[in-house]
Amino acid sequence: MTAMPDRLAIDGGTPVRQVPYPRGRGAELLGAEEIRRATGVLGDGALFRYGPTAGGRVTAVEDELRRRCGTRHALALSSGSTALSTALTALGVGEGDEVIVPAVTFVATVGAVVMARAVPVFAEVDDSLTLDPASVAANVTELTRAVIPVHLDNVAADMTGIGRVATRHGLFVLEDAAQAAGVRFHGRPAGSFGDAAALSFQQGKNITCGEGGALLTSDWDVYDRALRFHDQGGQFTTSTGSRSHHSGAPFIGTNQRMTELAAAVLSAQLDRLDGIVSRCREVARAIRDALGDLPLTWRRLPDPTGEGGSLIFFTEDAKTAARFAAALAGEGIPAGQMYGGAPVYLNPAVLEQRTAWSDGCPFACPRHPTTRRYHPGLCPVSEDLFGRSVIVAVSPVMTDRDAEDVVTAVHKVARHLL
Ligand SMILES: Cc1ncc(COP(=O)(O)O)c(C=O)c1O
Repeated sequence: MTAMPDRLAIDGGTPVRQVPYPRGRGAELLGAEEIRRATGVLGDGALFRYGPTAGGRVTAVEDELRRRCGTRHALALSSGSTALSTALTALGVGEGDEVIVPAVTFVATVGAVVMARAVPVFAEVDDSLTLDPASVAANVTELTRAVIPVHLDNVAADMTGIGRVATRHGLFVLEDAAQAAGVRFHGRPAGSFGDAAALSFQQGKNITCGEGGALLTSDWDVYDRALRFHDQGGQFTTSTGSRSHHSGAPFIGTNQRMTELAAAVLSAQLDRLDGIVSRCREVARAIRDALGDLPLTWRRLPDPTGEGGSLIFFTEDAKTAARFAAALAGEGIPAGQMYGGAPVYLNPAVLEQRTAWSDGCPFACPRHPTTRRYHPGLCPVSEDLFGRSVIVAVSPVMTDRDAEDVVTAVHKVARHLL
């Protein structure tokens, strides 16, 4: 006879998990090596990458990123958001251009398009929660210049299908690999497929230096424009003559430089990247296998051997997903609904097209006969899928015992809700 299931913690029962869970990825492993390297920079007193006494840490990180990702160039930047917007600028995407983005992503993907004064166009994701190539094709207009596949939560988008559509329509591909450092798609690193790619090293990412990012490309012109843009447009070529890498006449740019201090921390984290991704993949796989008896539909993994440890499942309806996520959280499991289970165009600022410079005016698109409006139901497949999704965070420091607690809690909640 099976025992009666315990009461759920959200209904007053005892939580499966009483001690806090590790939630971070690289951040959980910040340790002696990061401290040693950061202290070295402080000891040198040279925190600026281009200063006369700088120790070349940022350059070394760029070299390592190029090597790992297989691109000809890498530019370290101050964040993943700046990497995305700088990439668009360097590609020449700007006012009046349309850029196709997935309905499901973090708001920064959309923000980068808007910062470039281009117009975001939302396409459907499929059951991998990454951009559906067929929907990209269906959303191409004469104004489309680029597409941004997002490798959401450590799963690479179908770069073969997206590449095919992009080639057919002459679109730039900018990979948003903010959530996918170290992830691969059929043997090739995420970030190596597009005309350019963006990585993020913010605190919650696979590897971190608090804030940071990188732009990857194999196109010299894109790299050169990005390099100058991120360093005040190459002004220093003429004012001091010290930045010999800048070519051509200076233009007006901005400052998105990475510091030597950030690079020192990041260099230690880069040494850990392979271990982080493979441990997260192993933990996620073990949990999925142990839950194989439950009627849960797991997120499709286009390349299970290359993913970086994503645990997302779909329930039958959105109400069950919300309750499942809340019940798991109540059991002490790091679970929830990513971005509230809502597509990014329902983010109120996106929905109402509110920017810092035009409160509530439609995104400027002077060459388009109509303005783009977003609304519930715009991408019904994505709304349905994402609304029914539940995510469980995976950390490289999760022990087998931690993983067992996840399995126990999901079984417990499933007994009540499925
Ligand atoms: C998909 C995606 N794109 C872009 C970004 C922006 O990166 P950052 O926070 O480094 O600016 C993030 C960060 O969370 C992200 O998740």
